[in-house]
Amino acid sequence: MANNEELFKKIIAHSKEYGFVFQSSEIYDGLSAVYDYAQNGTELKNNIRNYWWKAMVQMHENIVGIDTAIFMHPTVWKASGHVDAFNDPMIDNKDSKKRYRADVLVEDHIAKIEAKITKEIEKAAIRFGESFDEQQFRNTNPRVLANIEKIEDIKNRLYPAMDNNDMVAIKQLIEDIEIVCPVSGSKNWSEVRQFNLMFSTNIGSTAEGATEIFLRPETAQGIFVNYLNVQKTGRMKIPFGIAQTGKAFRNEIVARQFIFRMREFEQMEMQFFVRPGEEMKWYEYWKNERMHWHQSLGIPAAMFRFHDHDKLAHYANAAADIEFEFPIGFKELEGIHSRTDFDLGAHEKHSGKKLRYHDPELNESYVPYVVETSIGLDRMFLAVMSFAYTEEQLEDGSSRVVMKFPPMLAPYKVAVFPLTKKDGLPEKAREIMNKLKYDHMCFYEEKDAIGKRYRRHDAIGTPYCVTVDHQTLEDNTVTIRERDTMQQERIAINEISGVVGERLNVKP
Ligand code: GAP
Repeated sequence: MANNEELFKKIIAHSKEYGFVFQSSEIYDGLSAVYDYAQNGTELKNNIRNYWWKAMVQMHENIVGIDTAIFMHPTVWKASGHVDAFNDPMIDNKDSKKRYRADVLVEDHIAKIEAKITKEIEKAAIRFGESFDEQQFRNTNPRVLANIEKIEDIKNRLYPAMDNNDMVAIKQLIEDIEIVCPVSGSKNWSEVRQFNLMFSTNIGSTAEGATEIFLRPETAQGIFVNYLNVQKTGRMKIPFGIAQTGKAFRNEIVARQFIFRMREFEQMEMQFFVRPGEEMKWYEYWKNERMHWHQSLGIPAAMFRFHDHDKLAHYANAAADIEFEFPIGFKELEGIHSRTDFDLGAHEKHSGKKLRYHDPELNESYVPYVVETSIGLDRMFLAVMSFAYTEEQLEDGSSRVVMKFPPMLAPYKVAVFPLTKKDGLPEKAREIMNKLKYDHMCFYEEKDAIGKRYRRHDAIGTPYCVTVDHQTLEDNTVTIRERDTMQQERIAINEISGVVGERLNVKP
């Protein structure tokens, strides 16, 4: 049984090998914390997004969806508090006048110790030749062991300090491990200060005429600034919600856990506008709704838990995370926040425009309170991959890796195989595929033995494989094989779509 770190590595390797996720710009050695979705990953991601959209928009009469621009007026981010308070730590060297991310300096220091370990191992490998056992060497060589311990000590100080925004502790760590500036070689450091996580660029063609703007760090603000437009044009009555999915960008400091924390990622957010004073009722409602959504996928309830925040962000009067048990432990997957009237109030102040809702039942105008649900699509993707990844030993002594995706999320729903490449079987299989593809995402394959084709589709999580054989030509029946049980049965061609559809028909 793989330990969790090993399992995480296997999921990352599987994601690449089977066309789910690639490192961005891989041929140039990649871009840190940026990833591309491959052919199967894109289908899975689209299916997760659609499942969310269906649950939030299609299933709620009082929620509508919008799609706002990534670029927004720069004052939006002043009003939202991101310009002043969306920060991470940085440090200056007083001799070289160079500025560094404090945690990156520490990470680089760790990388140097790791390089020493690697060098030690390489030297030993040459010395011992074929009899060299790397694991044994790692476990016993005193210099390697001392360096591993050093790395652990540093990590055990860095990560809690980062989590707690403890700038003094980070500075102390840099001093204690005697990090020198790569340019001046000195240890003459400034205090550690906060660094803003927003990416900025310029809009406008000339240097004088250009304005600094930001790549949005959350999609929510596009909803806030449009809420009155949507309310009026959609004749929405409070309580109502506005949903949107889209890219967000953060110049993340701790970005090292595959797609868990990225610099470019996608959010699925919904702002629910309510009467002031009713926000706690709706906060509880959305906590339950969202947990129900996760469990409707068939993922065991034990893999999810709530984490209620004690320390609240400046805009919130209640907040909770839905955490998922990733191979790297229980971590935040989604946030549910009661954001009060903080955002709309701030936009009223900064824009000078009234953002009040006239409540016809109360016959009064007010700035609505907002309850937000905010989930990272990439994080949900990783949760689904982690849940689905399964290694199985089979009765015949062989083994398989099968992605047990909830069927409605699987990239392909049916694979169609002719048993052989002759006797008219490919033609018949194509005929079936050409009809089936109107209903379901299908994959046609005729290369290799059937067993190999089954394994390939297990690895990408296709719930059904349909095989066309000589009997098909006589009686229009096929064998259909189910991914998880590997059970096969013989059914009529015109039953395939219904059998597959039945399993996909899960209500969010
Ligand atoms: N509008 C509220 C908001 O943005 P957040 O807790 O900062 O709240 C919401 O982000 C969700 O977005 C998180 O629960 C997580 O799933 C996802 N997320 C945040 N930062 C991310 C990153 N760097 N990479 C991937 N997903 C991220």
